[in-house]
Parts: sequence; C-alpha cells; structure tokens
Amino acid sequence: SSLHALIERLPKAELHLHLEGSLEPELMFELARRNGIEIPFATVEDIHKAYDFSSLQDFLDIYYVGMNVLITQADFHDLTMAYLARVHEDNVRHVEVFFDPQGHTDRGIAFATVVNGITSALDAAEEKWGITSKLILCFLRHLSEEAAFETLEMAAEHLDRIDGVGLDSSELGHPPSKFRQVFAAAGTLGLMRVAHAGEEGPPEYIHEALDMLEIDRLDHGNRALEDGTLVARLGREQMTMTVCPLSNLRLCVIDRLEDHPLKTMLSLGLRATINSDDPAYFGGYINENFRRTADAIGLTEAEIIELAKNSFRGSFLEPAEIEAHL
Ligand code: HPA
Ligand code: ZN
Repeated sequence: SSLHALIERLPKAELHLHLEGSLEPELMFELARRNGIEIPFATVEDIHKAYDFSSLQDFLDIYYVGMNVLITQADFHDLTMAYLARVHEDNVRHVEVFFDPQGHTDRGIAFATVVNGITSALDAAEEKWGITSKLILCFLRHLSEEAAFETLEMAAEHLDRIDGVGLDSSELGHPPSKFRQVFAAAGTLGLMRVAHAGEEGPPEYIHEALDMLEIDRLDHGNRALEDGTLVARLGREQMTMTVCPLSNLRLCVIDRLEDHPLKTMLSLGLRATINSDDPAYFGGYINENFRRTADAIGLTEAEIIELAKNSFRGSFLEPAEIEAHL
C-alpha cells in the first residue's frame, strides 16, 4: 500500500534496540559452532518454537541463554554489523543502541571486548552507509545497585564511546528507585540517562524514573496511560517514549496489535516513537513494526510522518543535526 511505501522511504532513527536482541538464529548457530558453545536448540525451527513468550521474564530467560554464544570481539562486531546492515535496508539513518555488559562480564568476557567489537561495527556502518550512532550501556535491574556501580566503573575508560546509561531486564520488583545513586553518578559523568519503565511495571515506576533517575527519555512507558497526571507531565515535558509494538504483542503487554495504545499516545500529545526492541526474538525490524502497527490501528500518513520525525527529535543528536533530519 501507499502507507507501506511511505514507511519504507521515510528516514528514521531507532532509539530502542538491544543489540543482543538482534541476534538472529542463523548467527546464533554460526557463533555457537565457531566458539564450541552448546545451545539448547538443534534447529531454527526449535528456536522459533521456543520464542513463544508469556511475559517479559519468560523472554528474558531465553534472551540470556542466546547471548552465551557471544565470546570474541569479532562476535560483537558481527552481531552489530548484521543489525546495521539490516536496518540500512529500512532507511534507518541514526541508531541509539543498548547493550547489556553484565550479561557478558558475568560470564568472564572482558568489558573492552564487548565495547570494542560493538564500536568497530558502529564506525564501519557510518563509513559505509552514513548511519550515525550513540551507544547506551544498560544496567540489569534484577542485579544489585552495587553491581551496576562496578559496571559503571568498567565503563569509565570507554566514556569516549559510551553516550548514556539505561535500565533493563526484569521490571516487576525492581523499581527505578533501586538505582538512584548509580544514575546520579552517571549524570555527574555527563552521560545521558534512559530507563525502561511502565512496560509491565505500574505508573509509579515511571514517576520514579522521572524524579529519581532524572531520565532524558522513557523506554516503553505504556502504563503511563493509567495515570492522567503522568500523561499531562510527559506531554508538557515532551518526554520521548520509545514504544515497541511487536515487543508489546509478543510479551503479552497487549493481547492484540489492534489494541495497541500508540494512536492514543499521539492523540494525547505524547512524543511517541516506534522501535523494534529485540527484533530477532519478536519477529520484526523497525519498518515491520511501523507496517503492522499502521495496519492494525489505522495510522494516518500524518501520524506515520510524525512518528518518524519524533525518532530524530527524541534522539541525543545535537539540535542542528536533528533539524537536518526533519
Ligand atoms: N524489557 C526489559 N529488558 C529487556 C528487554 C525488554 O523489552 N529486552 C532486552 N532486555
Ligand atoms: Zn527494551
């Protein structure tokens, strides 16, 4: 359709993407073989069967198994390059990607191995395709704040390549307030701050992310819609929300894509964006998220253009760089 053609041709930024969540089954098998790592799947078919999630935790349990095949700097390079090559086809011009260092350092992989592999691919993609990027280190919220501090310390000598910190993994029971001090320390280091909040967690977690973590951008934020005061504040502050429709569907945040609140968010004046989250696990990269959401909830041409513009407005590019993309 003409809306699909519009989606495909619009320049876009992706602001909510976990690099480890872009590990496609084929590359997982290749790296498992290359590194002599056992994985609990024999075929791509097995993998697709296992990717039938009932909740965020159900997904995370498999996500942490998948990333065990990532060992060498070349592995992190290949993972990142495969993602960038894929979204180049979707006319993505800028990315702000997450990585989960604790998922690797806790397995004995050096922090530098992870960062050097990722950044060599980010550099190569800029050279090859002109795709610009920012890199965001996420703290795993099911681990302690002390462990997050240790991770921030490891990042200290790589701050020329790390632009921000985020907060991901199991949301329920791990409120933003648990990470107040480490986010304050990251702010002092000049890092941008984002946090997953309101994906499964209550509106109170979003209030905490705003007030205690002083976030610059909100990841997901779906459950803000339960709290009118919060909606008003997010609109007033023009807080960018990185919404992930196919993720929401696959993690049972919504029952049907037709029920997705994205249109409501836009109509309430919220600065929503469309993102893929963990495309290898949730069945679609950014354009597929746009197309399926547009079809399911009837996004208009104007709404699609607004969403693409919001992706640049919500980025951590300089104002003049943002302007050049609008
Ligand atoms: N939510 C929380 N943590 C995550 C996700 C997610 O969607 N993907 C990878 N880590
Ligand atoms: Zn996420």
